[in-house]
Amino acid sequence: MVVWVVASGMSYDLTDKTAIVTGAASGIGAKTAERFAEEGANVVVADVLTEGGRETVDRIESAGGTATFVETDVSDPEAVEAMVQAAVDTYGSVDVAHNNAGIEGDDERFDQQTEDNWDRVVDINLKGIWLCMKYELRAMADDGGAIVNTSSIAGLSAAGPTPYVASKHGIIGLTRVAASEYARADVRVNAVCPGVIDTPMVDRSAADNADQIEQFVGMQPLGRMGTPEEVANAVVWLCSEEASFVTGNAYPIDGGYMAL
Ligand code: NAI
Repeated sequence: MVVWVVASGMSYDLTDKTAIVTGAASGIGAKTAERFAEEGANVVVADVLTEGGRETVDRIESAGGTATFVETDVSDPEAVEAMVQAAVDTYGSVDVAHNNAGIEGDDERFDQQTEDNWDRVVDINLKGIWLCMKYELRAMADDGGAIVNTSSIAGLSAAGPTPYVASKHGIIGLTRVAASEYARADVRVNAVCPGVIDTPMVDRSAADNADQIEQFVGMQPLGRMGTPEEVANAVVWLCSEEASFVTGNAYPIDGGYMAL
């Protein structure tokens, strides 16, 4: 792989770029923040969880990278605007973003879902991504950029509870509209659709319903959970110059789940 990258003259180089990652205190977002920093980006680590967010920054700095934590609730418009402004104030621009914060919500059948749970899941998972893109796109308007949103196999199938599935389908719609409206501004927008990935979210779901998680993992032809790094690698590629002709699509990172 290294030989091919060198021989082809391409790389994932993000030196001096500014990256925002939401949900970066844990799981997939924490790993993407670390991978962005490894590729040379200055990273804004955004999350509601202060302790986990600071730990991500510590890991990045210990590895020689640059990052800062910005406490952000992605469902709060003022907080999201302030997050994007903090990136511009601290590092001078916003060049790449991984809008990834999300929650699983209650695991109930369709007619047992509460309005409270619907509102909470849709506010964070869907409105949160819309708000992040709204302010990121403004910040990218002059110099372009790349955005990746975290959807799910639940954005492409019925694999999950109603509000989660609806929110993850909606993210793909937001991704397509933003990609088509901002292509001529040199902003690429894509989504990743992870299958079952070994993170605290899956640990929580397994604590409630271990059989269901086992069933989903069994439906992934590779026969195992994915790792946060395997999703982060796809996000880094989509944000890099190597993906310069890739926009407006949603990519399963799912061990083959959607192939069946
Ligand atoms: P996680 O629970 O480890 O990480 C999610 C992070 O989002 C946490 O740090 C949490 O504090 C943060 N967050 C939650 N609400 C927030 C808010 N209002 N504002 C800012 N941050 C907030 O879970 P994981 O697995 O890393 O999930 C990341 C994304 O990947 C989520 O959008 C999830 O839906 C998605 N995903 C995960 C899969 C998996 O199997 N782990 C499969 C498909 C999608």
